[in-house]
Amino acid sequence: GFSWKLADHPKLPKGKTIAVVVLDGWGEAKPDQYNCIHIAETPAMDSLKNGAPEKWRLVRAHGTAVGLPTEDDMGNSEVGHNALGAGRIYAQGAKLVDLALASGKIYEGEGFKYISQSFESNTLHLIGLLSDGGVHSRLDQLQLLLEGASKRGAKRICVHILTDGRDVLDGSSVGFVETLENDLAKLREKGVDARVASGGGRMYVTMDRYENDWDVVKRGWDAQVLGEAPHKFTSALEAVKKLRQEPKANDQYLPPFVIVDEQGKAVGPIVDGDAVVTFNFRADRMVMIAKALEYEDFDKFDRVRYPKIRYAGMLQYDGELKLPSHYLVSPPEIERTSGEYLVHNGVRTFACSETVKFGHVTFFWNGNRSGYFNPEMEEYVEIPSDSGITFNVKPKMKALEIAEKTRDAILSCKFDQVRVNLPNGDMVGHTGDIEATIVACKAADDAVKMILDAIEQVGGIYVVTADHGNAEDMVKRNKSGQPLLDKGGNIQILTSHTLQPVPIAIGGPGLAPGVRFRNDIPDGGLANVAATVINLHGFEAPSDYEPTLIEVVDN
Ligand code: 3PG
Ligand code: CO
Repeated sequence: GFSWKLADHPKLPKGKTIAVVVLDGWGEAKPDQYNCIHIAETPAMDSLKNGAPEKWRLVRAHGTAVGLPTEDDMGNSEVGHNALGAGRIYAQGAKLVDLALASGKIYEGEGFKYISQSFESNTLHLIGLLSDGGVHSRLDQLQLLLEGASKRGAKRICVHILTDGRDVLDGSSVGFVETLENDLAKLREKGVDARVASGGGRMYVTMDRYENDWDVVKRGWDAQVLGEAPHKFTSALEAVKKLRQEPKANDQYLPPFVIVDEQGKAVGPIVDGDAVVTFNFRADRMVMIAKALEYEDFDKFDRVRYPKIRYAGMLQYDGELKLPSHYLVSPPEIERTSGEYLVHNGVRTFACSETVKFGHVTFFWNGNRSGYFNPEMEEYVEIPSDSGITFNVKPKMKALEIAEKTRDAILSCKFDQVRVNLPNGDMVGHTGDIEATIVACKAADDAVKMILDAIEQVGGIYVVTADHGNAEDMVKRNKSGQPLLDKGGNIQILTSHTLQPVPIAIGGPGLAPGVRFRNDIPDGGLANVAATVINLHGFEAPSDYEPTLIEVVDN
C-alpha cells in the first residue's frame, strides 16, 4: 500500500539545513538596458552564476514545462510554485478550462447545472479579468462561456470587467472592451440581453490576494453587487477611455465604475435569485471575492446587502476550504506534494514571505492547499506588505525583513528547510518602472546574500532559483528581439512576465562533495526542483516525481 516514508538516499546525508530561495520574477536574458537584473548591482546572484559551472544552470519556467496550454504562455507564480512544490507537471487551470469548453463538458457538470437554474427568470453575472494574458483568465474562454450560456438558456447576462495591463500591455484594455462589446451586441441581436454592468482596474478593484487589502474587494462589491461606484457611464468603452485620460491612470488601477441606463440607474446590480460566475481560473486573487459571495457569515467589510445567489467559480479556488462549493471545472488534483512528504519524513520546515507573495510559498507550494500539514513540524511566517501603494514607490519592499526572519530561522537550528519567496523583481517589474525595478533587484540580491551568509554559518545547503521571468526584460519585443515602438516612437514597456528560463544554483558548506547538476536533463524545468531538494534532504524522491537535477559523483 501507499506509504509516506521516503527511501534513504544512497549517498546523501540527512540533517543539513537547506535554504530554498525563490526570487519572484527573476529570469535569465541577454544583458541590455531593459534587463534590470543585469543593470542592478547583484553580487550575490552574480557569484552563483560565475561560480562552479556544474552548480548553476537554467530551467524552464513557462509553457508546457509548467502545465500551461502552449509554449507561448509565459510563466507565472501559481504554476511555477505549484511545479516547484509538487515535483510533477499538472495540466493547469488554463488548460483544463480549454478542454472543458472544447468538449462541452463544462456544461454537463454540476456547477453549470446549478447556475443555470437562474437563467429562466434571473440574470447571469460574469465577473473576472478581461484580457488574453492567460495568467488568471482568458478572453476567448469568456467568449465561449458567453456563447455557451446563451445557447443554454441565459436570457440576461451582465459582465463585470476587471481591466488588466499587468499580464498584458498597459492600454490594451480599450481593445479588449471593444471586442467584448461587439460580442455582447451580437448576443443582443439574438435576443439575449447581454451587457457590461461594471468595471475597474484589477489592482484597485476586486483582485486583491492573501487578504492584503479588503478595501480592494469592497470597491468591487459596491460596483458589482450594489451597483454603486464613484464613476457612472452609459458605455463601458467610454468608461475605460475616459478614466484612462486621468493623470497617471493605467489599466491596472482604473477606479471602479458602473454602467447606468438613461435614467442613471445601474443596469446590473446583483440581486436575489441571480447567478454569478467568477470566470478567472487562477485562485489567489479570487479567494477573497469568493468568500464575500459565498459566506453567510462574513465580517471583512460591510456588504450592506447580501443577495441570495447561485454562485460558481470557474474552478474551485481552495481545495482545503472547498471554496467555492460550486464550480464549473475541477481544478488540478495536486496531491502528495514535496512539502507533505518532507513533513512525514521528519523534515521541519519554515516558510516565509511578505503578504503579497506569502501564499506562493505556502498555498501554491502545497498544491493550492491552505494551512499546515502538521503545525508541530512547520512554521509559516508572513511579513505584512505595504498596502495602498504601488511597489515602485517602495521597491525594496520587505526584502530585508524577510531575509532577517529567514536568517534567524536558519541560525535557530530549529528547521531543516527554510523556504522563502523574495517578491521584488516581480512586484516592482509589474509596475513597468525601470528605475524602481533596478532598485528592487538589488534589494532581492541583498536578501539572498544575508540568507547565504546564514547558511554558511550553520554549514547548510542553499538552492536558489526563481518562479518565472519578469525583471530581466522590461520591453515588448518583436520576433527578432528588437524593442517595439508605439505610434509615438516610444518603447512599449512590458509590465508582464516573460517566456525566459530561470536560474537555479546549489551550494553551501553542507553540500556533499561530488554533488553536481546532471547534464542529461537539458530541458529540465521547475518541476525537477522538488526531487532535487528531497535528495539534498537525504531522501530518494517518489518515483513519479520529475527526475532530480543532481547526481553525486565519486571523487
Ligand atoms: C499578478 O497576479 O500579480 C500577476 O497577474 C501575475 O503575477 P504572479 O504570477 O507573479 O503572482
Ligand atoms: Co508576477
